[in-house]
Amino acid sequence: MTSRVSIASMASLVGGYFLLLGGLTWAADPAVLRPRVPRDQIEAARTVTNPLPASEEMIAKGKALYEGKAFCKVCHGPDGKGLGGDIAPGTLKGPLPRNFTDKKWQAARTDGELFWILKNGSKGTAMAPFIPLVLTEEEAWQVLRYVRSFGQP
Ligand code: HEC
Repeated sequence: MTSRVSIASMASLVGGYFLLLGGLTWAADPAVLRPRVPRDQIEAARTVTNPLPASEEMIAKGKALYEGKAFCKVCHGPDGKGLGGDIAPGTLKGPLPRNFTDKKWQAARTDGELFWILKNGSKGTAMAPFIPLVLTEEEAWQVLRYVRSFGQP
């Protein structure tokens, strides 16, 4: 059942991607730091904080979701640096997944903004909403603990 949801989600992600993004070019580097949450919602989004501790246990749970049923790894890579082996760079023509190990990017984003993206997706890109179809809110916070761990030495 879990893998069926994932495959269906993946198919709609890819389909939606081709419909929406066929004509866009790749993002330039400075574009990576531009806020993704719309201006009228970003202030509210930034007040939201991760209710879970940054413990080894939460990071491990997040890693299991990132690599497992939430298939983040497919696009964000096993090392968080971008495309994994499953997707060739030429396949995604919108803005590419950023490097999660980039400290400038880590510092530019609040947890609340990242959570907003998991709920709403990033409009006009291959990043789709994952809550509630793939992740519960609690699982999303676990995944974000793992995403944050890429910024640690
Ligand atoms: C189909 C490919 C794909 C999958 C699967 C995917 N992402 Fe993304 N993600 C992207 C792309 C492309 C972007 C860049 C969007 C942009 O530039 O606004 C992105 C952006 C993001 C961002 C926002 C980055 C920012 O700069 O604010 C976060 C956080 C994120 N992804 C986390 C995840 C997590 C966690 C998962 C798994 C639950 C996941 N993504 C699954 C393609 C994907």
